Amino acid sequence: MPCTVVVGAQWGDEGKGKIVDALSARSEIVARYQGGPNAGHSVIWNGDTIVLHLVPSGILHERTRCLVGNGVVIDLLGFRAEVEHLAALGVSVNGRIGVSPAAHLILPYHRTVEALAERGPGSIGTTGRGIGFAYRDKAARTGLRIADLFDPEAFAAGAERNLEHLRREYPGAGLERLSGRAVHEELLDAARWIEPMVCDVSLELDVALRAGRHVLLEGAQGTLLDLDHGTYPYVTSSAASAAGAPLGVGLGPTAVDRVIGVSKAYTTRVGHGPFPSEMPASEAARLREAGEEYGATTGRPRRCGWLDLPALRYAARINGLDQLIITKLDVLDEFETIEAVVGYERDGRPEPGFPASGAHLERCRPVSRTFPGWKSPTTAARQWRDLPPNARDYLEWIERESGVPIVTVSVGAGREAEVTRT
Ligand code: IMP
Repeated sequence: MPCTVVVGAQWGDEGKGKIVDALSARSEIVARYQGGPNAGHSVIWNGDTIVLHLVPSGILHERTRCLVGNGVVIDLLGFRAEVEHLAALGVSVNGRIGVSPAAHLILPYHRTVEALAERGPGSIGTTGRGIGFAYRDKAARTGLRIADLFDPEAFAAGAERNLEHLRREYPGAGLERLSGRAVHEELLDAARWIEPMVCDVSLELDVALRAGRHVLLEGAQGTLLDLDHGTYPYVTSSAASAAGAPLGVGLGPTAVDRVIGVSKAYTTRVGHGPFPSEMPASEAARLREAGEEYGATTGRPRRCGWLDLPALRYAARINGLDQLIITKLDVLDEFETIEAVVGYERDGRPEPGFPASGAHLERCRPVSRTFPGWKSPTTAARQWRDLPPNARDYLEWIERESGVPIVTVSVGAGREAEVTRT
């Protein structure tokens, strides 16, 4: 399958980094299509955990080229620090990273005003990376892009114009101390650094696909954080679902051959917003410790809950999932019973499917089903028959009810810890 999209089927943190790293061994190119350094994709390399924020998760495979598409928002200084950190660890990065000139920049004032907005009413519980404000400028057609870095006068004028608006909108933000010119000057050195990486991502992918090469389009966040299809307004500001993939790299939708959804065997969520399958605090604490459920970007404790079938079915539809990968099955190894949400009720009546509106979802009561646990370790399993029968029953139920075949089950953090369905 030359062009594969890997997408989160939940609220992010499904373990996409590990999956993309594994699939990268067979891919010539991995491209990120949306989001920014709000993502934290953890990958194990030489026994160490590396957290990637903007660099595609293919970087640890030496022959894979890594592209950052037009749909991504880039914090240039953070991106440079991330690439230099990888180089210091011994990862070969030279000549392997390409960046679209149309990718928008996250600028320091985006983070400043986001911090202020998050302190007021309507807080989303963001990662504090300035994501929403960078995409706001993009939609308002006042954003500054990678290409603009190389025209200092126009860049400084554009940044100054944006600052003028923000000073009026957020008088307490201290933006009088910042000028458009200073914003550009702070980026000058990093602009020279990134210039050789700037390339036509769309053209490069098109040429590769025409030559029959394998391309992975790597999603960040997850379907339920998608700006259009997620639990709005508690979402991120980009098209995190599979449809965002061709858009965010400059391909047509017909270029995509396969869409793989990644879901944990349970559910987590960071930030505010509805979460119907959320567990009571004591149970959540147990799962959080077992699964080390703390944000890879912010370190925040993740909210924990059981698998949510209506949400998974919704993700299957929104993304057109062809295949499903279930991660962190091993985290459930010690649980006596496993629950899953199988439907919702609203005002005493069954709710058909997953409500598209966050406010509507807020009023839904979950209907659950209990499965017997397997109470035995799964981390050493490599084939379906190695899994305990109760674990297989649970997985086969997910597959049947979601309507999407499970191809792989991840049973530990290491690259080798996975069960492949044959
Ligand atoms: P933002 O993307 O920083 O604006 O945050 C918007 C919402 O998306 C918040 O609830 C964040 O916690 C959530 N979010 C953003 N990126 C991630 C991620 O990579 N994993 C999980 N949640 C995320």
